Amino acid sequence: MNLILLGPPGAGKGTQAKRLQDRFGIAQISTGDMLRAEVAAASAVGREAKAVMEAGHLVSDDIIIRMLEARIGRPDCAKGFILDGFPRTVPQAVALDGLLARMGLRLDAVIELAVDDAALVERIAGRFTCAACGAGYHDRFKPTKLADTCDVCGGHAFTRRADDNRATVTARLAAYHRQTAPILPHYAAQGVLHQVDGMAPMDAVATAIQAVLDGHGQGCA
Ligand code: AP5
Repeated sequence: MNLILLGPPGAGKGTQAKRLQDRFGIAQISTGDMLRAEVAAASAVGREAKAVMEAGHLVSDDIIIRMLEARIGRPDCAKGFILDGFPRTVPQAVALDGLLARMGLRLDAVIELAVDDAALVERIAGRFTCAACGAGYHDRFKPTKLADTCDVCGGHAFTRRADDNRATVTARLAAYHRQTAPILPHYAAQGVLHQVDGMAPMDAVATAIQAVLDGHGQGCA
């Protein structure tokens, strides 16, 4: 199964992609996570991407498309993948069409998580991650069960993303509306676009995504 999760920053793409990965054993491909790994490694790509990401802008299509092509050919994608954060521009969507055609693959569904911009700042400003195992939390919506202790690994150190601040979120939202939302008609025309209410609680969002995958979701013409 090959899926795309689309939506603005904080819509819940990563949250739902991890659940789908656990449920179906297919690979979560987050271009944001891949770029953050490049930044942490101070690679050539990471050095170029760092300032762009911290300003809330999009990294160049060339870099992203090359990164994605290499990633999608890896063995853990053999059963399928969930694209989380890609494509984000019309040229990226067109490049993905070509790549899938060359690989003899097709998209099963593109799921748009629809959310109000106003809710996103709170979601993003409250997000934190276990430094040891990467488990994701939220100050209000998904706190750790014990104070300052990761539910998964028991670690006590947590990190917050450099681009998770109010000023950058505003720029990221603007980039979404200007550069990413225009790809929705591209997938509507292919008959694979479905919209899910991303404002619902996390479990309800997961149920709505499952309904789409079971063939009961609402298509977007
Ligand atoms: P990326 O890492 O992709 O970030 P993003 O798209 O801005 O999305 P986020 O990771 O912020 O949010 P999410 O939708 O995954 O939400 P989450 O599940 O964490 O990209 C970062 C940067 O990298 C970009 O700005 C760009 O510079 C660059 N980049 C990446 N890909 C690129 C590309 N293809 N082209 C060019 N540049 C690229 O949820 C957020 C919080 O809300 C969490 O704390 C969660 O617990 C909580 N939450 C989730 N769902 C719910 C719910 N239903 N109710 C309540 N709380 C919820």
